[in-house]
Amino acid sequence: MKVERVLITGTTSGVGRALLEYYAKSGAQVLSVNRRQVPALESRYPHVRFECLDVRSAEGVQKLVAELAASAELPEVFILNAGINRVDNDESFELSSYREVIDTNLYGVLNFIQPLTLLPRGQVPRHVIAISSMANYVGNPYGLGYHTSKRALTTCFRVWSRMYAGTDLVFQQVMLGPVRTAIYSMAHRFPAWVIWIRDAFSASIDGVVRAVSRLARSRRKTLFYPWHAVLLYLAMWLCQSLVPGFFQGQKTLAGKLRRGEGSRPDPAGHA
Ligand SMILES: NC(=O)c1ccc[n+]([C@@H]2O[C@H](COP(=O)([O-])OP(=O)(O)OC[C@H]3O[C@@H](n4cnc5c(N)ncnc54)[C@H](OP(=O)(O)O)[C@@H]3O)[C@@H](O)[C@H]2O)c1
Repeated sequence: MKVERVLITGTTSGVGRALLEYYAKSGAQVLSVNRRQVPALESRYPHVRFECLDVRSAEGVQKLVAELAASAELPEVFILNAGINRVDNDESFELSSYREVIDTNLYGVLNFIQPLTLLPRGQVPRHVIAISSMANYVGNPYGLGYHTSKRALTTCFRVWSRMYAGTDLVFQQVMLGPVRTAIYSMAHRFPAWVIWIRDAFSASIDGVVRAVSRLARSRRKTLFYPWHAVLLYLAMWLCQSLVPGFFQGQKTLAGKLRRGEGSRPDPAGHA
């Protein structure tokens, strides 16, 4: 089955941008939802429709879905990919950064679900794909918003995939392992060996695009990609469960003992 129309969020970089390129080349009508305009990207893909919309805006997303439904232009595939990662739980817990991550990674997806589930049943299956993460199983304690947002997202999609099974709404999710993109902004805060291991288990962007596009042509509920990264997360989960203190954030990223003598958090909230 060829995808005729696809909506992708977060296409200015990384996985979203690669998906945009793939679907645009395949001849699909692509609707790209970004929070900012990138003139070079828009002039490179003149046939792609670019909507400048922050996925955190429930109102904006609802208006977009309603307009698409009214003009019979609703895509049959929604790839809800936009996401961010922040250090929000290092020297102290930073509520505003945590909230920004939850608003983007969780509500930035959920904002699409309410209007989609309100639509009357369609003639064709409509695939709604969330880009979750294997980090929902084993969290980085310093990026708590990321861990909890993906965990909640995964729970929501698991419920919906069962609840709407056999209907026109096909809920699917990708448990993505590491991919080298702009989102991995904490790299310089970890020792080199951690980055080396992460890179060794990373997927290529091309591989991710192929796997996600295959998923969109199926009714499979969950895709784990790449498979070899599952081993990494399993090993991390075992170590976190069995080795006292392993990757629990008991030291700050700067290596200081948490709440040890003379290590007061900066009241201004600067890491
Ligand atoms: N890379 C990995 O290792 C990895 C692993 C597992 C899961 N994932 C997931 O894969 C997805 C794509 O991430 P990526 O690795 O491709 O990262 P990326 O290169 O940083 O791309 C993230 C995209 O999301 C957009 N975005 C962020 N906030 C937005 C908002 N409020 N409204 C609209 N767009 C917004 C960004 O736009 P701007 O350019 O404007 O910031 C960018 O286009 C994310 O959901 C991420 O959690 C990634």
